[in-house]
Amino acid sequence: MPRPVALITGPTAGLGAGYARRYARDGYDMVLVARNAERLEQLAAELRAAHGVDVEVLAADLTAADDRAKVADRLTAGVQVLVNNAGFGTSGEFWTAEPALLQAQLDVNVTAVMQLTRAALPSMLAAGSGTVINIASVAGLLSGRGSTYSASKAWVVSFTEGLANGLAGTGVGIHAVCPGFVHTEFHQRAGIDMTSIPKILWLDVDDVVAESLADVAKGKVISIPGLQYKALTTVGRLIPRSLVRAINKGRGRSRGRT
Ligand SMILES: NC(=O)c1ccc[n+]([C@@H]2O[C@H](COP(=O)([O-])OP(=O)(O)OC[C@H]3O[C@@H](n4cnc5c(N)ncnc54)[C@H](OP(=O)(O)O)[C@@H]3O)[C@@H](O)[C@H]2O)c1
Repeated sequence: MPRPVALITGPTAGLGAGYARRYARDGYDMVLVARNAERLEQLAAELRAAHGVDVEVLAADLTAADDRAKVADRLTAGVQVLVNNAGFGTSGEFWTAEPALLQAQLDVNVTAVMQLTRAALPSMLAAGSGTVINIASVAGLLSGRGSTYSASKAWVVSFTEGLANGLAGTGVGIHAVCPGFVHTEFHQRAGIDMTSIPKILWLDVDDVVAESLADVAKGKVISIPGLQYKALTTVGRLIPRSLVRAINKGRGRSRGRT
């Protein structure tokens, strides 16, 4: 029996590395997609040695249409799991941010998710099984915090929920994972100062991966890892959006990030 294949974007750090290690441990062959070829090769060697699985390295910059097409071609050939994890935030105000950087963020956080999911689904549907996991964020569920990043993650949530209904009964599942703050390279890369964030709001990669995959196994469309974030997002849904916006504005968290 050939092993199932999981394609993961952004596994050179943080959550993507966590999903790659977990799927390799579970016996999946892997396709690893990110820009840093050296880090991809290091992870591939680690996974082959630790779990005896086959690992393909596909160096690609998801801001580039040609590279997205290369990854889409690999997905068209067939995988059992796609984890759309690559993504990034930026700091500063929207009105002074480099337009090219804002476009690149949209390309990775939104366009790649749309194109790669579109490429993966036909073979999954033909097989009558498959799983797409889109990494969104709590930022996509709460209004009034930042601009382009939160909007990109709200798109991921909405896209996933719509497709989940469309795919019902096909054997193919699609899920959005909405983490809060996770210890990864994300905030350092974005240049966001996180020193004021209380310890209780921080999650670890392994916990997010374990809880989200347990939710996926249960068929949950939206996974919100961590009790603190389940509580926060539940309250956020129950109170008026205007109040959620006011809370975010009042605490100064709507400034200094896109
Ligand atoms: N950390 C958090 O607090 C948090 C919270 C909620 C949601 N998230 C989401 O979780 C996902 C993973 O983020 P993380 O926290 O694990 O961040 P991270 O540690 O910074 O890792 C980001 C990954 O994305 C890849 N990536 C970035 N730009 C890329 C591009 N242009 N082309 C291909 N790959 C690219 C990076 O690889 P290369 O640099 O090698 O290309 C890296 O592997 C993101 O979608 C993020 O929005 C994170």
